[in-house]
Amino acid sequence: MVWKRILKILSDNNCWTSSRQICEKFNISRTAVWKHIKFLEEKGFLIESQSKKGYKLIFPKDSPLSLDEESFKGLSFGKELFQFISIDSTNSYAHRVSESAREGAIIISEQQTAGRGRRGRIWFSPFGKSLYFSVILKPRLPVTVLTRLTIVVGVSVADALKSFGIDVNLKWPNDIMINNRKIGGILSELYSEGETAKYVVLGVGINVHCEKDEFPEELRDIAGSVYSTTGKKIDRSKLLLEIIRVFERRYDSFIFNNGEIGDVKEEWESIAYGKDKEIMITTGEIKEKGRVIGLKADGALLANIGGVLKEIYAGEIGG
Ligand code: BTN
Repeated sequence: MVWKRILKILSDNNCWTSSRQICEKFNISRTAVWKHIKFLEEKGFLIESQSKKGYKLIFPKDSPLSLDEESFKGLSFGKELFQFISIDSTNSYAHRVSESAREGAIIISEQQTAGRGRRGRIWFSPFGKSLYFSVILKPRLPVTVLTRLTIVVGVSVADALKSFGIDVNLKWPNDIMINNRKIGGILSELYSEGETAKYVVLGVGINVHCEKDEFPEELRDIAGSVYSTTGKKIDRSKLLLEIIRVFERRYDSFIFNNGEIGDVKEEWESIAYGKDKEIMITTGEIKEKGRVIGLKADGALLANIGGVLKEIYAGEIGG
C-alpha cells in the first residue's frame, strides 16, 4: 500500500518532503504521488502542499499507521500487522483473520465505524485522536485461566502510560481510569473448542487526544482522554509500541507460569480503583455499595460489601 508508505515518510520527516523524494523512493510519477496524497486527505489526514516545498503532514502527526513491522524489531508481537484508516472494529477484523494470522498479529485502525465495548456497548472511535488496536493470541492454556489476560493487559497499559508520566487507576475488570473518568477499556474475546482456546482477541481502546466536548453527550460526564484529564499530549504510535513491548514480556511470563499472574496481582492492587471510597458493585441484578479490597490470584475481584468479603467473578463496579 503506497499511501501507507507515503504516510510513513511524511510522518518520519515531520517537515516538508519534496514530491521528487517520494517519486524516487517509490518509482512513481508526480501525478501518482498527488493522487495518493488526495486519497489520504479524503480519508481525514491534513496535508499541506506547496509547489516548491512538497508535502507536510499536519494532522494527525502521531498516526499508529506510520508504524511498520520494522518498528516492532526485537519483539515477536507485531511481526504481522493489519492497518486501516477505518474499519468496523479491530476486534471484529481480528476474528475474521484469526485462522491464518500468527500469534502476536496486531490490527490497528485510525477510526472504527462499529467499535465495540463490553456488554454490547458502542466504543466511541473518532479519526486521528485515539488508539484502537487488537492483538491475536494463541495460548495453549485452559480457557479457565485466560480471562486473567484482561488483568495482564490492564497492568501493561498502566505501565506503558506511566513511562509517559501518566498515572492511571484500573477499574475491575477492564476499565482504565484517570481522575474518575474512563479513558480506556479492554475487550477480550475468546474463541474456544472444548477446554482449550483456539484463539484470543485482546482489543484495547485508549482515548488519547479527545477534548471534553468531543465526546457524545451521554459520555461527557464519565469519559475522558489522556489529554482532557491531564493536559498532556502523548504520541500515539510510541504509546502503542510501548504497550506491546510491556505486554509481550508479561504475556510470555504468564504463559511460562501456566496462567499464573504472579506480581501482576500486587501491581493491579496498587492502582486499583475503588479502594479509598465506597462504590457501587453490580453482580447480576444486585447493586450494592462496597469497597475494593484487592484481587484474587485467579483474577476475581475481592470486595468488602456490608462488612462481608466477597469474591466477584462477573459484574461491574462503578460510580
Ligand atoms: C470497554 O471498556 O467496554 C471495552 C472497550 C474496548 C474498545 C477497543 S477499541 C479496539 C478494539 N476494537 C473494538 O471494537 N473494541 C476494542
